[in-house]
Formats: sequence, structure tokens, C-alpha cells
Amino acid sequence: MQFDNQVAIITGSGRGIGRSLALEMARAGAKVIINDLDEEVANLVVEEIKKDGGEALAVIGSVAERETAEQLVKKAVQQYGTVNILVNNAAVTRPAMIDKMTDEQWDLVVDVGMKGVFNCIRAVAPIFKERGKQNPDALSNGKIINITSVAGLTGSIGQINYSAAKAGVVGMTMSTAREWGKYRIQSNAVAFGIVETRMTEIIRTEKFEDVYKNKIVLNRFALTDDVVPGIMFLSSPGANYITGHVLNISGGYHIGV
Ligand SMILES: NC(=O)c1ccc[n+]([C@@H]2O[C@H](COP(=O)([O-])OP(=O)(O)OC[C@H]3O[C@@H](n4cnc5c(N)ncnc54)[C@H](O)[C@@H]3O)[C@@H](O)[C@H]2O)c1
Repeated sequence: MQFDNQVAIITGSGRGIGRSLALEMARAGAKVIINDLDEEVANLVVEEIKKDGGEALAVIGSVAERETAEQLVKKAVQQYGTVNILVNNAAVTRPAMIDKMTDEQWDLVVDVGMKGVFNCIRAVAPIFKERGKQNPDALSNGKIINITSVAGLTGSIGQINYSAAKAGVVGMTMSTAREWGKYRIQSNAVAFGIVETRMTEIIRTEKFEDVYKNKIVLNRFALTDDVVPGIMFLSSPGANYITGHVLNISGGYHIGV
């Protein structure tokens, strides 16, 4: 897959899946906007991409803030002229059982994982819709890939906040697909099961590892390399006729053993 002349915004790309995706997209020719709360890791990813001969810039801030989302688009346009691909990847977890969950845990997870996605979709609207109006016959005038989770499809014990945010992401994916289909903008989601990143360190312990692996049809956790190609495919011209789809990349976690 080649992404020459494509400009991609990837939120939460200082670490984990977002970072791996950013490196791969840049290797494939995309100019990448790296976003993270954490300035140090975001700058490291930019450095790594540049060392590899690619192009990238960092925009630091929380996607839960409308201004950050607008900055992402503004910087992309200033530096690279446009935005073609938006990958809404940033999210956090704050697990607790329902009766123990605090307002702060609920608000943070929903603000970042759900409102953050809305903020970024709204921020690309002027660019994507205008391109759609100018090029009504083009096969694609913009691609949105929202990262969701099996937790958003089936629920997850101790994660009512995260499940709600991730189910909301699926709803936003479908609403965007319907609202912007006439502009030839594709909106899809990718649902992961358990990927080996910082986010899942808490369950990848000796005590829990086998319990979770035994719920996965393929009986192993994903590496970031297992999940990145699916996101790239949905970002590519090969997906020009796919919209409103949730692609499970979960080793069968979504169907259960
Ligand atoms: N790891 C998994 O097993 C798994 C499973 C299902 C879905 N997902 C989803 O995949 C995506 C990436 O997760 P990951 O495992 O790479 O997580 P991660 O924690 O390794 O990386 C997430 C990055 O997002 C950044 N971030 C956090 N809050 C932010 C904010 N408000 N604004 C901008 N950046 C912010 C973090 O600093 C971090 O660098 C998330 O949407 C997550 O919900 C992950």
C-alpha cells in the first residue's frame, strides 16, 4: 500500500498502536501528524520518521479539547496543504466495577475516547466536505478510521465507561458514513481485542494472561504489527467502496471460544 501525497492525522500516536501505524504510514509515503498528550514520546516518533526519510510533525494536546482537534487540522494544512486521512486512535482506560466507578473515571474515559473522536471528525469537516463538493465524482474525498474495541461491541466487566465510549465510536462511525457518503467520504471502524501495548499491561500478568488468552480463538494476544495492516487497508484506495463497516481484528475474541 502506498500513501504518497496523502496527509494523515493519527491521534494518540506517541505510543502503542498509533505509533506503529504512524511509522508504517510514513514509510509508505504519507505525511503524518503525530498527536499525543505526552510531548516527549510524540517528538521521538517524529524524529524516528524523519531519520527514516519520512515527513511528520507533532501537535501536543488532548483530543478531548476542541482546540487540539482544530490545531491538528490547522497545522496539517499549514505544513502539508490538506488532510486526507483521519485515524481516531487516542483513548484511555480507567477500570472499576459499576458501583465503584467515580464521576472522574467516567468523564475522563468518555471525554477522551468518545468526545475526542467527535472533536476530530468535526475538525476535518471543512476540508473533507469542501473536497467532496469540488470533486463529486472522485472515488474518495477523505477517509476516517475510528479505533474501537470488542469491549464496545460485547461489553466488558469493570469497563462500563470504556465500553460506552467505544460503542459510541461505532455509532459515530455509522452516522459519519451516512452524513458524508454523498461527499464520497468513507467512515469505518476497527475493533481490537487485546493488543500488547501499555494499555493492556495490567491484564498481561502471570495471574490473568491465560484467562484472557483462553477467550481468544487464536489463543494469543496481538502485536501492533497484527493490527496496523487493517487500519492501513481501510485508509487506502482499496477501501474506496467500504463505508460504515466495523472490522474486527481481534483473533476471534469477538465471537468467543
Ligand atoms: N491495546 C489493546 O488491547 C486495545 C484493545 C482494543 C482497542 N484498543 C484501542 O486502540 C487504541 C490505541 O491503544 P493503545 O493500546 O496503543 O494504547 P496506549 O496507551 O499504548 O497508547 C495510547 C496513546 O494515546 C495517548 N493519549 C491518551 N490520552 C490522550 C488524549 N486525551 N489526547 C491525545 N493522546 C492521548 C497516550 O499518551 C498514549 O501515547 C485506543 O483507542 C484503544 O482504546 C486497544
